[in-house]
Amino acid sequence: MKYYLLFGPPGAGKGTQAKLLVEKFNFHHVSTGDLLRKEIAKGSELGLKAKTLIDAGNFVDDSIVVGMIESEIAANPDASGFLFDGFPRTVAQAEILDKMLEGKGSQVNKVISIIISDEMVFQRIQHRANIEGRKDDADPKTIQNRIDTYHAKTEPLIEYYKPQGKYNEICGEGTVVEIFEKISSLL
Ligand code: AP5
Ligand code: MG
Repeated sequence: MKYYLLFGPPGAGKGTQAKLLVEKFNFHHVSTGDLLRKEIAKGSELGLKAKTLIDAGNFVDDSIVVGMIESEIAANPDASGFLFDGFPRTVAQAEILDKMLEGKGSQVNKVISIIISDEMVFQRIQHRANIEGRKDDADPKTIQNRIDTYHAKTEPLIEYYKPQGKYNEICGEGTVVEIFEKISSLL
């Protein structure tokens, strides 16, 4: 089983690219953000716990997202590969994922990092706020918190994956199709 990670700041285009990659490569797409928003929409206990954190642009506990990833892997034994979007987001999550996959005789195969500037994050997210109505897109303070949290907690993952030879970085500031072609050539 192959495991690919789509990595990048808020609004980098992870979800947009994941949809196209799934069509082309037939991966099972797992976005922890989408899964958490589904739990919030259902009003589940997990969703209620996550809502305040997400709406303020803060991370949900590692144990919650790791549990969701385990369930997704277990529920899709016939997948040709997994494309994780927005997970792992901390070094602690990456270490847990490595142990989890090691136990299955697998590993993370490649990390695809889509990089855009903080200014472009703002532009993209403020534009999307009018379309999708995500609460964490609405307030500039929340957007700034998501950007700061990315730099502080998620960016260190670059130095986690680089020495393993798994890290691939692409500029996310072209058109959707240009970026899709760059990622496709890496897969
Ligand atoms: P999540 O849903 O993962 O949000 P995010 O990482 O902030 O990323 P986004 O979904 O906002 O952006 P994206 O990269 O998918 O970009 P998109 O394709 O939509 O997580 C939300 C929250 O959940 C987190 O803040 C946290 O609280 C919690 N959470 C999730 N995972 C967690 C974890 N592992 N641990 C702890 N907490 C976790 O594109 C953005 C916009 O730009 C769209 O409008 C799109 O149409 C447009 N666009 C895309 N590509 C282009 C392009 N090339 N040119 C022009 N426009 C483009
Ligand atoms: Mg997304």
